[in-house]
Amino acid sequence: MRIVFEETSGKIILQDYPGYPVAWNGQQFRIWKAMPPNEHYFGLGDKASELDHRGRAFTNWNTDWGGFEKGTDPLYKTIPFFIGMSGPSAYGLFLDNTYWSSFDFGKENRDALSFGAEGGELDYYFFYGPDPKAVIGEYTQLTGRMPLPPLFMLGYQQSRWSYFPETRVREVAQEFRNRKIPADAIWLDIDYQKDHTVFTVNRDAFPHFEDMIHDLAQEGFKTILITDLHIKKQAGYKPYDEGIANDEFVKNPDGSVFVGDVWPGPSVFPDFTREATRKWWGTLFTDFVHMGVRGFWNDMNEPSVFNAEHTMPLNTLHRVEDGRQYRVADHREIHNVFGMENVRATHDGLLALSSDIRPVVMTRAGYAGTQRYAATWTGDNTPTWSQLALSVPMLLSLGVSGYPLAGDDIGGFGGSPTPELLTRWIELGTFNTIARSHSSLNTSNHEPWADGPEQEAIRRRYIENRYRLLPYIYTNMEETSRTGLPLMRPMFLEFPSETTLAANDREFMFGHDLLVAPQLSEARDPLIVELPAGAWYDYWTGIRVLDKSPLALHPKLDQLPVFVRAGSIIPRQPVIQHVEEIPQGPLELNVYPGPDCHGSLYADDGDTFAYQRGVYFRVQFSCAANADSLQLTMSSAEGTYTPWWKNVQVTVFGTPRKPTRVLLNGRPFEPWQFDADNNSVSVLSPYSRSGLELKIID
Ligand code: GLC
Repeated sequence: MRIVFEETSGKIILQDYPGYPVAWNGQQFRIWKAMPPNEHYFGLGDKASELDHRGRAFTNWNTDWGGFEKGTDPLYKTIPFFIGMSGPSAYGLFLDNTYWSSFDFGKENRDALSFGAEGGELDYYFFYGPDPKAVIGEYTQLTGRMPLPPLFMLGYQQSRWSYFPETRVREVAQEFRNRKIPADAIWLDIDYQKDHTVFTVNRDAFPHFEDMIHDLAQEGFKTILITDLHIKKQAGYKPYDEGIANDEFVKNPDGSVFVGDVWPGPSVFPDFTREATRKWWGTLFTDFVHMGVRGFWNDMNEPSVFNAEHTMPLNTLHRVEDGRQYRVADHREIHNVFGMENVRATHDGLLALSSDIRPVVMTRAGYAGTQRYAATWTGDNTPTWSQLALSVPMLLSLGVSGYPLAGDDIGGFGGSPTPELLTRWIELGTFNTIARSHSSLNTSNHEPWADGPEQEAIRRRYIENRYRLLPYIYTNMEETSRTGLPLMRPMFLEFPSETTLAANDREFMFGHDLLVAPQLSEARDPLIVELPAGAWYDYWTGIRVLDKSPLALHPKLDQLPVFVRAGSIIPRQPVIQHVEEIPQGPLELNVYPGPDCHGSLYADDGDTFAYQRGVYFRVQFSCAANADSLQLTMSSAEGTYTPWWKNVQVTVFGTPRKPTRVLLNGRPFEPWQFDADNNSVSVLSPYSRSGLELKIID
């Protein structure tokens, strides 16, 4: 049997490779598909590779690989989904199989791509866009979408292995506030625990743990705790005793409990594929939630075990058990979903404890669909320029694989970055979906102020810019939660027909409207920036870009080139130090006239599910240029949420000369300013929920 997918016109989209039927070898299977010469391949999660997988091969087996490099494979996650693109036409393919699997995009045979697994069902889904955005929409409709995260998760976050003891945690938080560097969360790694034992607190080092969480909250800091999945094997330790009494742990083939070494020494592992075990695991968070801990970080959930296999032996037994089924499966089948079931248990447990608070969970391992339960990061990177560069395709690849809520360890985990590298990394990190700095034991300090006032000033400016852009970022995240489209978008996603693929690894769209072109190397060569057809503005100055693409730039250490697509309306706000602070001043609307000029703004309380009950705010903007005027329209507000602003500062860029007058809702309005340096007109208008119409007349 050969399978051919074709359009009604007869055009072939994807077909089995002639002469290569599905192959079975015992439990293993493999499928070959013809590989057209101009087709390109994206996806499979955060592979440490170029964004385009053509000519490369990969395997999937969740693996803790500290200090990975470009080419290291497999890593922490398994997302057996890819997008194939021929010109602007895209399709998607998802192999829904949790066993060890592999994908080859023309490495073995340059005319064929192939995929297969070591066992389980041959079960794959085909999605026909043909627009790449539609493919992501269809794939995430099947596997689930990222729920809307709380607003603070989009603020700047500071982590380290480990902030220790309590006085140091308080000091780091205080430094952010004293130095006026905005930040929203502090992450505590394994040393807050007693003997690295999950759900305990080292009271010698953290004598006032509850007060500390409370005091940090008073200062606008959320506390996030690491809570790895392994449970120390120790009689008298409650989670162990309860788990043994209720038969909650993963077993060896002889029926005894599997024991493996991890941070606390000999440990046992909850059998997360059992519904009852997931429920029990969820209850273990009760005390921390009551203390006010706002998020939990489930690390080591590949699962990582300090033995020769780096994980559980293949014959370890898991019970797959819920109201519908009971069966026993071995580790071959469960390995790649173990981490997902772990964070599913945490996520659902947090919801059970506080049903109206959006759960915050961070995972390292994952499978297709884990985006429903947890944010993620790319694991233990190192402080090198090549890793900074690698972070771009890795995060973009996660996004097109349905996993948008992701970041990396800003600064590089396993070592001490040079001041310049850390500065560049913070600059880029403020344009990642999650902006979280994290570093290992025995490395230099990675906080923004660590390298003296000059570096600190640059880093502060970028973090401040992140907070100014929060209305835009949050609006985009709300879109992600409905459509699956990521905030960090590869160029081909926004410009399927005109992107040169070389730019895909270096530059990306941050939402629909901003193009980010980071300096990713130390070399003195010019930074080549490719701007897709159409007009662009410089984000930092508002000036229209007149040079022809590609641009050859030499960005200084304090410069990260960012461009705005003509036809955008970007909402911004005054700088705040954390998301609970109310911005002082007007909402800013920056208008960049051009074709199909539009934008939108979404807001809500940023923390609860009230938005699902109608307590949200949404407006649409549009702008239209006529021969002698430009008109900006803001729709009336949808939803019952009342946002913070009383006034709106509208700035229209690309205005060639001083206008003659400005009309607000049809009546002459003053004052307004014209700035000849960047050709902008600025109007401060009172805001009303019924919307506004602003006309700038030549
Ligand atoms: C793992 C994690 C890292 C963490 C460390 C200690 O290496 O990837 O982020 O800091 O464990 O918990």
